[in-house]
Amino acid sequence: MASTQKEIVLSGIRSTGNLHLGNYYGALRKFAALQDDYDCNFFIADLHALTTAPDPAALHANVKNVLAEYLAAGIDPEKATIFIQSDIPEISEMYLLLNMHVGIGELMRTASFKDKARKALGLTAPDDDDDGDFAREVCGNETNKRVNAGLLTYPTLMAVDILIQKATKVPVGKDQLQHLELTRRFARRFNSFYGVDFFPEPTDFDFGGAPVKVPGLDGSGKMGKSEGNCLYLTDDPKVLRKKVMRATTDEGPKAPDSPMSEPVANLFTLLELTSTPEVVKHFRDAYADCSIRYGDLKKQLAEDILKVTTPIRERALDIMADDAYLRRVVAQGAEKARARAADTLREVRHIMGIRGI
Ligand code: TRP
Repeated sequence: MASTQKEIVLSGIRSTGNLHLGNYYGALRKFAALQDDYDCNFFIADLHALTTAPDPAALHANVKNVLAEYLAAGIDPEKATIFIQSDIPEISEMYLLLNMHVGIGELMRTASFKDKARKALGLTAPDDDDDGDFAREVCGNETNKRVNAGLLTYPTLMAVDILIQKATKVPVGKDQLQHLELTRRFARRFNSFYGVDFFPEPTDFDFGGAPVKVPGLDGSGKMGKSEGNCLYLTDDPKVLRKKVMRATTDEGPKAPDSPMSEPVANLFTLLELTSTPEVVKHFRDAYADCSIRYGDLKKQLAEDILKVTTPIRERALDIMADDAYLRRVVAQGAEKARARAADTLREVRHIMGIRGI
């Protein structure tokens, strides 16, 4: 019922490519589960996407891809507010205002910034004690090797996404927790500087249980676009089967009950996510008694993954073909998100002393 205020949940995905199985288990599926009980706001962070490799055609295409994939994965525009970040100009204005309360030092010490800045500068993996060198490189005067200021202020923009909607629950992956910590710090700082109790401090959404980790197919680490080890929700069956069949394994167990190498353990993790307990047990037993054939495991895994992704893929393709529907969804989302953003911004301006003559 509308009378009880639901807690405001907000999360976003950067539009840097198609969504993969990691996004599905780590984000989309969880988002969909929250829609009935929370005031859910899910958006496409296209301004954040601009901080790395801006490419107009790719950006434009990816916003549409991510939107269609959100919808295909079960996020329902009648329940959740779905919008595109750049459709809310209030975000950009508040980003400017909030930046006045953000230190360049704290931004430079953010792990994601160091990571992306190192990449932009072509530096190799960090030593823990190279911060002095790193700072010098970032400030260096080679203009063809620059770190753009948008990358530095990425956490300000993310904080604004959250604070402008006064969201209190922000479901994000582990790699985003530091940004959320900064968001809380900025909120506290704003409140105490102006002597107001204006921004709530958002926290991560606690789903209970261990976080799902979706490994990649290359034997180590998690599935991620930049790692090139992804299964995309929209991969067609042939492509998906081929990727799974090529996944890294090892030479097979040589003795009963051998410990598992990481690549093989990763395949079992994927199997656990997508298969039935019987299937998992079958292959675990086969591993334990050394009768396992990885080819069989992979064949089964590919089919079980396809059972998850095929309906999403088919819906995404249908939705992608319906521009009028997509436009309606984002227009409706932007209207709702803008109304709240405009209220917050109006008050922020007032608090900061931008009050007209
Ligand atoms: N930085 C997030 C990521 O890369 C995306 C994002 C942008 C976000 N703004 C946000 C997530 C606000 C949650 C809330 O995954």
